[in-house]
Amino acid sequence: MTETIFDREQARELRRIAEEKAARRRPAVEDLSPEEVRRLLHELQVHQIELEMQNEELRRTQLELESSREMYFDLYDLAPVGYCTISEKGLILEANMTAASLLGAARGSLITEPFSRYIFPGDQDIYYNHRKTLFKTRSPQVCELRLLDAEKNPKWSRLEAAVAQTKDGNPVCRMVISDIDAHKQAEEKQQNLEDQLHHAQKMESVGRLAGGVAHDFNNMLMIIIGYADLLLADKHPNDPEQDPLKQILSAAVRARNLTKQLLSFARKQVMTLKPMDLNEVIRGFRQMMNRMVGEDVAVDFALEETPLWVKADVSLIEQILMNMAVNAKDAMPRGGRLLFETMTVELDEPGICSNCLEVTPGRYALLKISDTGLGMDPETAQNCFEPFFTTKAMGKGTGLGLSTVYGIVKQHLGDVKVLSQPGTGTTFMIYLPIGAQAPVPLPSPEKARDDVPGKSTIMVIEDEAAVRRLACKILRRKGYNVIESEDGESALSFACAYNKPIHLVLSDVIMPGLKGPEIMNGIIKYHPEAKALFMSGYSEEHISSENNQKYNHPFISKPFSGSQLLAEVAKILSVIQ
Ligand SMILES: Nc1ncnc2c1ncn2[C@@H]1O[C@H](COP(=O)(O)OP(=O)(O)OP(=O)(O)O)[C@@H](O)[C@H]1O
Ligand SMILES: [Mg+2]
Repeated sequence: MTETIFDREQARELRRIAEEKAARRRPAVEDLSPEEVRRLLHELQVHQIELEMQNEELRRTQLELESSREMYFDLYDLAPVGYCTISEKGLILEANMTAASLLGAARGSLITEPFSRYIFPGDQDIYYNHRKTLFKTRSPQVCELRLLDAEKNPKWSRLEAAVAQTKDGNPVCRMVISDIDAHKQAEEKQQNLEDQLHHAQKMESVGRLAGGVAHDFNNMLMIIIGYADLLLADKHPNDPEQDPLKQILSAAVRARNLTKQLLSFARKQVMTLKPMDLNEVIRGFRQMMNRMVGEDVAVDFALEETPLWVKADVSLIEQILMNMAVNAKDAMPRGGRLLFETMTVELDEPGICSNCLEVTPGRYALLKISDTGLGMDPETAQNCFEPFFTTKAMGKGTGLGLSTVYGIVKQHLGDVKVLSQPGTGTTFMIYLPIGAQAPVPLPSPEKARDDVPGKSTIMVIEDEAAVRRLACKILRRKGYNVIESEDGESALSFACAYNKPIHLVLSDVIMPGLKGPEIMNGIIKYHPEAKALFMSGYSEEHISSENNQKYNHPFISKPFSGSQLLAEVAKILSVIQ
């Protein structure tokens, strides 16, 4: 800081001028009387004291000024927001330290640079319009855009600007820059979570709808397939009605496959869960895969060396592999590479779990399926798991492949995600919970007895009259003795009073009143010899595959044909456990 208001040079100059002026003054001191000299001396002393006091006052004011100047710079430079003055042409005239750090540059290097140089290229238009409106309207303007930091990374900022005038009358923009990056990121995260929730709710409701429709459809298809089958069995091979009947059957079977896919999406597929090595299932599919994708596509495998035991339905896992392979083939019309990778992952770190995966933490088998195909744009990637979503031409795709995959994976308590960009290919990641043990080989059946329809009694329990009548008809035609029952209560009271053996109970699972497994539990109290065969259009919570495993009763999925039913019945009746 300076010592006084004048430096030494100035003081010497002032002294010289003062002496000159004193020399020119009249009367000179030697002309004065002693009394006048004494008075003059006194005056001079008083003046000197006054001057010293004024000087002291000046010195103090000077110090105060210095300290408030320092405070001003502290406040200005180290303010929590950036301050910038920008000319009408967009050049930086002045900036505080915070602005320099937000713009990722040294303060000195900013001056006379265009402010637009520090803006993310995608947001230049926002800034251009902001500045244009500001100088045109002369009213304060606010905008949000991304500035580039020192590493050239975009960071969200808010610019608040007003017009001021310089001393020479030119308009300038005084701008406040606030860092809102963390706030924006939190907002984006929140938005992502909301989108995810919305998507999950949408999938859930579409699933419920699809499941409901598919269930009712199955009962109707059951009647179409069953009766067409019965009629066909009666026809002579040369009968002209054979062909139309076959057409009806094949259309109904196609419709059955469609409802099967819908049920998979709705996670209501009847599953037979068994411990299986995921790697083994993939290896078993190798040849089929090669044939399916054609010669232009190289299929590679990078499977974890140790077995990946998951509890799953093999046929459903195979269906996933097939749907994925077909999609990959379609995405690589000019050939490419399809890679199947497996590995074990631990999903307990918040980073992974919060990364959109809807699974409980734990160990998972990760199956990665990557292709080098056309890839997907963000909208397709967002919607690809929805039923009936397809980008393929009319008649080329129904849009059920990935929704089936989604439903199967979810029903296995896993999750599936997609990573894709147009032109760079696609990777699907399927997570399935690990936890199953290697299976213990089952003992072979002790002894077999011939299934003799004429001697076997089957109780059929089904609330849907048309389905019940059809099943009874198929069984009676084969020669079985059939007992018909429309619900659990009547079946139980009949079984209690019936004193001959009941060899098999063919029961629906979901019915008003008692459910299939509960009825079966009641019947075996009176007829321990009775075996069970459940028929169901879909699995529900209370007859989940887990329950089914607990009861360990065989299942037949509706809709089934007469021959399927008879084959299943014969299989059970011919084996005495
Ligand atoms: N491997 C992939 N590469 C690029 N896009 C894909 C891939 N897999 C799926 N898609 C996109 O997702 C959409 C939905 O796939 P999905 O398998 O559900 O139906 P689809 O293949 O169109 O018809 P479907 O499988 O019922 O015959 C496809 O139409 C396609 O746009
Ligand atoms: Mg498909």
